[in-house]
Amino acid sequence: MISKKMEKALNDQIAMEGYASFLYLSMATWCDHKGLQGCYEFLRRQAEEEHMHMLKIFEYLSDVDGFPVTPGIKQPPHEFDSVQSLFKSVYEHEQKVTKSINGLVSLANSENDYSTQTFLQWYVEEQREEEALMRTILDRIQLIGDGPQSLYFIDKELEAINKQVAAAEAAGGE
Ligand code: FEO
Repeated sequence: MISKKMEKALNDQIAMEGYASFLYLSMATWCDHKGLQGCYEFLRRQAEEEHMHMLKIFEYLSDVDGFPVTPGIKQPPHEFDSVQSLFKSVYEHEQKVTKSINGLVSLANSENDYSTQTFLQWYVEEQREEEALMRTILDRIQLIGDGPQSLYFIDKELEAINKQVAAAEAAGGE
């Protein structure tokens, strides 16, 4: 049995993960429109990951006799200044999610809710990985700089990262 406060906090997280999924889908579409296929594929996969993060909380809440609430759809932005600023926004969004997950862990701790603490460990690890990945992308974008061919090289970097992620998934990671 989960407390009403924890249930509400997890439902807020459902909304946050759902919004991230739509935000990354919107970003993916923008990249596709600009011909940035590597960036498109990366963000499209991230959108699916966020959807999965949302569904995991649905399942958990149902398991512990809580009620998962399907969130309303808040429209994400669909115009972005540049691919550089787009990835900066992704990184900032992931930092926001990490902060929110940490808040959930501390609420679970304060309630001695060991089941939710254990459930959230997966998210703690996932956020560490996602933040590290987004930081790597930002570092590479910075190295490439703003030259005339920069978009081409950024997209090539994202293609390489897509291949690394696919290889890690095939090897059993996430
Ligand atoms: Fe589910 Fe990337 O936060």
